[in-house]
Amino acid sequence: MLEVTSLPAAPHMRYGSNSGQALTRRDGVLKVTGQARYAADNHPEGLLHAVTATSTISRGRVIRLDVEAAKAHPGVVEVITPASRPPLMADPDWKGHLFAFRTEALQNDQVRYANQPIALVVAETLESATEGAALLAPQYETEPARTGLDLERFAPEAVGVGSPPGAAVGDVEAALGASARRIEASFDTAAQYHNAMEPHGLVAAWDGDRLTIDMPNQAPVMAGAAFARYFGIPPENVLIRTPFVGGGFGSKAILNGPQILCILAARMLNRPVKLVLSRGQMYGPVGHRGQTRQTLRLGLADDGQLTALAHHAVAATSSFDEFIEPAAAVSELVYASPAISTSHEAVRNDIGTPGPMRAPGAASGSIALEVAIDEAAEACDMDPLEFRLKNYAEAEPISGKPYSSKALRECYAEAARSFGWSGRPLAPRQMRDEAGLLVGWGMGTAVFHCPMFAAEACAVLRSDGTGLVETCGIDMGQGAWTALAQIAADGLGLDIDQVEFRSGSSDLPDGGIAGGSGHTATAGMAIDMAGADAIAPLADIATADPASPLYGSGNAGVVAREGRLHRRDDETRSESYADILARAGVAQVEGTGRGGRDPAAAQDHALQAHGAVFAEVKVDPDLGQVRATRLVGAFAAGRIINPRLALSQLHGGMIWGVSFALHEAAVVDRRTGRVMNADLGEYHLPVNADVPSVEALLVPEQDPYVNELGIKGVGEIGITGSAGAVANAVWHATGIRVRRFPVRIEDLMMSAAA
Ligand code: MOS
Repeated sequence: MLEVTSLPAAPHMRYGSNSGQALTRRDGVLKVTGQARYAADNHPEGLLHAVTATSTISRGRVIRLDVEAAKAHPGVVEVITPASRPPLMADPDWKGHLFAFRTEALQNDQVRYANQPIALVVAETLESATEGAALLAPQYETEPARTGLDLERFAPEAVGVGSPPGAAVGDVEAALGASARRIEASFDTAAQYHNAMEPHGLVAAWDGDRLTIDMPNQAPVMAGAAFARYFGIPPENVLIRTPFVGGGFGSKAILNGPQILCILAARMLNRPVKLVLSRGQMYGPVGHRGQTRQTLRLGLADDGQLTALAHHAVAATSSFDEFIEPAAAVSELVYASPAISTSHEAVRNDIGTPGPMRAPGAASGSIALEVAIDEAAEACDMDPLEFRLKNYAEAEPISGKPYSSKALRECYAEAARSFGWSGRPLAPRQMRDEAGLLVGWGMGTAVFHCPMFAAEACAVLRSDGTGLVETCGIDMGQGAWTALAQIAADGLGLDIDQVEFRSGSSDLPDGGIAGGSGHTATAGMAIDMAGADAIAPLADIATADPASPLYGSGNAGVVAREGRLHRRDDETRSESYADILARAGVAQVEGTGRGGRDPAAAQDHALQAHGAVFAEVKVDPDLGQVRATRLVGAFAAGRIINPRLALSQLHGGMIWGVSFALHEAAVVDRRTGRVMNADLGEYHLPVNADVPSVEALLVPEQDPYVNELGIKGVGEIGITGSAGAVANAVWHATGIRVRRFPVRIEDLMMSAAA
């Protein structure tokens, strides 16, 4: 039974009555009744179906494709290969924006990873296209696959999507040398694939030089601009419709080769074309979480004070692009130490380029850091919570900046109390349940940064007293249709039911990137400002009109709420929006807003969300089988717009933490470089039975600096801390310190029974 408990709504802070409410998803009924139309549900007239033929080798060349056989197959309309592909206006290597990774769009006959598209077959039916692709019978000139991390390393110029590859404070080597105790440990994290429920797919249709695309995407306006560049048309000629996204996790932020091929086919054939990747084809061209090996070196004083912290990460990347998992960066954020260094190296593998995946860097880095911290606490005979409090960072460790807000102490206290942490024996292998299973408790600190991107919105107040707010926000399951509409209603001083909220289409103002846990803050700020900008002319009209009860109070002297402007100095004097507009004979007033962060705020403060996660696992002493039986996390992430949706995000993140520690790994055949478990049957994802109890608590936090709405974001933080908590609980249950994730039965079987 899934037992999920939640705190009631966070108290309302300075904003209106819509935010802070635990509203259910506005799109929920559409989704559960099958009415929500996802990209692949579109069947425009004249639709053709495309299927990519994909490579079964990971390095070499395609030397033969039986294009004639595929073309001769009934229903097949076209076969696009590197030899027949029409040119693009921009090279697929173009990297003009944040998520424009180098794509494989049939530039040449080279194969650089397994599952790379090597041809596109377009047919009247999906079956014909699938059969046609099978008839291509590719022959290869095969070179040995390069996989794993034991290969030549190089120092990247940047990690992630452009962060510095390292940072330092103090002299970490000297501090390590002088420390009373030292911990050194290496950790391996597996490659993971996003596995969103909705596969990557799109329907592309051209009308002259205008292009309409139905596809799930986390940054449609940016994607549209990129496609315009590839196809040599003005950005305003591209319309991307993305009303519902069945999970993104970062993988739908990046552009990919199959998308470009589908659009290309539609233009070549002058008919709409649909391309949907199969589950197996998603293991390659659409990103993944790169494999890492991380070395942590910790120096400790006798009293358990950290004196040095060095975190070095080696990450796998592709042979043709350079997304480097920024795993070590987390050590710049969490624990105080006079000397810290973080650094990254990379190794080229014959794999599709890794990319951002929910909590990029932080998820992989956090499990290593939290286990190393647990080892340090163990070495000092200290309780892991006491150890963390001893090394609590009062200011951001490397930068020294004060935090904009940091309720981590409260998170530790709340979650520890709810979990019952004080009853934990210090030594491992001390607890058994009634069935004789070993029981262990572990903890981890959660942290994630609070980026904001550029965004715009517009707002309208109509003479009937209703409002309209538009921004191209993205609901990928996190609840943006609801949370952003709540902010929109507050911005206009209306109830949510009186506001029409338009989103998910690239012809609307750019709502920015739905990523980095920053979408609510980013689009929310633009929406809030647009609302204020629409209220301003309304206030101008009312305060200048001698017939209005607001006359003479001045624009700053009125406040908007419940569809009325009120005098601040006497709230009983008010007038409805409809009456103000009717008397003035004005049909509507409009406003626009631009989101993004005041750079000064980012300069003066460290902006992080925090949390604490406690986990219980049970381990079968004979079989080594591990179950995560109970998780409690408390999170402080600034203002919570919708506690129901925020908790849903946190639960999802925590479950992914369990998955990271115990389940999820892409298994690569090192002979061929292919992922051997590229399907939902063998790629282990936790189901309800794997996560019997997950509790997330929201710790109230008011943040005056992160942005004017005080929003930090909750999309990714839940993984961090959770994975380490589970790994540490495994040690506490068994006394075995596993440093390769996910923890496998064989890691625990040999000595668990001892
Ligand atoms: Mo996220 S990995 O920024 O979608």
